[in-house]
Amino acid sequence: MTFRATVLTLYPEMFPGPLGTSLAGRGLAEGLWSLEARNIRDHAIDRHRTVDDTPAGGGAGMVLRVDVLAAALDAVAAEDPKPRPMLAMTPRGAPLTQAKVRELAGGEGAIVLCGRFEGFDERIFEARKVEPVSIGDYVLSGGEVGAMVLLDACVRLLPGIMGAASSGEEESFEEGLLEYPHYTRPVDWEGRTIPEVLRSGDHAKIAAWRKQRAIDDTRLRRPDLIERHGGAREAPPSGAQ
Ligand code: ADE
Repeated sequence: MTFRATVLTLYPEMFPGPLGTSLAGRGLAEGLWSLEARNIRDHAIDRHRTVDDTPAGGGAGMVLRVDVLAAALDAVAAEDPKPRPMLAMTPRGAPLTQAKVRELAGGEGAIVLCGRFEGFDERIFEARKVEPVSIGDYVLSGGEVGAMVLLDACVRLLPGIMGAASSGEEESFEEGLLEYPHYTRPVDWEGRTIPEVLRSGDHAKIAAWRKQRAIDDTRLRRPDLIERHGGAREAPPSGAQ
């Protein structure tokens, strides 16, 4: 099964962009996933190829027209051998999480709508079961970079992409915590040494230290994650399930 990504954008030339290099790029070349960027403007329905209009109620900027968006989504869906989830990148969406990424990576792929201007006509979400997704609490100039973030996160989890490097099970967010910190040689660098425990060879002690650091660092940097994790305080005794 191949993960199929279709991006609907006014700037298809932005793709594959960074997704064409490194892990994702190799995966593309090897056919482990596919990426198609389509121009929303190709689905305009007037002779000026208009995709946007002024916001109802007034205000700044322009809004992507619902009829054009629907035509673009319907054209992709009509060709789909198997239905794929439809997502729209917008700062008004639900925050993207590793759980959502895992869910998507385990499916057929995704159809990703990218907005520009003030965004999408709200009616598209319910009418076509489009899920609004945000990559964080800041505003980008368009959804394309967000779509790249989403797809990069999905693609690295696909079978065959990461190889033996990692199953991704120990990394940040998989347990609702940030991952523990990493070190490599030199052992002493500018007077800063690698923590003794990591050089001890005692795997149980190392695992316990890592668990505690994951909790401590998460509490310090991301107290919101600790809350969601049920207020984890300290690592269970090493060896405990
Ligand atoms: N488009 C503009 N800002 C965005 C954000 N934060 N996430 C997803 N898409 C966006």
